[in-house]
Amino acid sequence: MSEILEPYLAMLNFKTGILKPFKKKVEVRLSDLKDFFSDQEAVNKILSKSKNPIIYEYYENSQPEVEGHLNFGITIINPGKIGKEYYLTRGHYHAKEGTAEVYVGLSGKGIMLLQKKDGQVTHLFMKKGVIAYVPPFWAHRTINIGKNKFCFLYIYFSDAGHDYEIIKQKGFAKLVIEERGRPKIIDNPKFTKY
Ligand code: PA5
Ligand code: NI
Repeated sequence: MSEILEPYLAMLNFKTGILKPFKKKVEVRLSDLKDFFSDQEAVNKILSKSKNPIIYEYYENSQPEVEGHLNFGITIINPGKIGKEYYLTRGHYHAKEGTAEVYVGLSGKGIMLLQKKDGQVTHLFMKKGVIAYVPPFWAHRTINIGKNKFCFLYIYFSDAGHDYEIIKQKGFAKLVIEERGRPKIIDNPKFTKY
């Protein structure tokens, strides 16, 4: 049975992407993402200069982790690259794999990479106003391919959980890199099938 909560409001400023109030704020820096970027040399070079940029942050209204509730929040991915690869989120399967998620683009330009354990791979282009539906069983990672911050709203089941481990070990099948000033989706040379 769902835990009972009182209804509540939160305000989203569509211009700034600021969500108030929020229950959880997470800043994810390069050192947290070491294993998720493909160019380890580029990662180490930046970290060795004592630089540890914030790659993305998220502000979440998390509910109790029981069936029936929804978590929602906004993610802000900064613009930038590590080597040729654009700034990205870790990406994950939901631990409860049969749970979907909805993303709504708020500002900036991004790509969502999606993949399934059976080998299916796809991607979606995102910008302000675009709604991306992540069906059950699809791992998802978002990437900022623009020069400004890429912000989106997300809504998912609060008992879905995040499985980062498999992504940490195997990565995504595709990488999004910059080539001649433009984003390009290429095969990840290090990716091995499940
Ligand atoms: O649940 C989601 O898919 C999002 O809220 C993400 O968690 C968020 O964008 C951060 O990405 P990740 O959890 O892959 O680091
Ligand atoms: Ni998710």
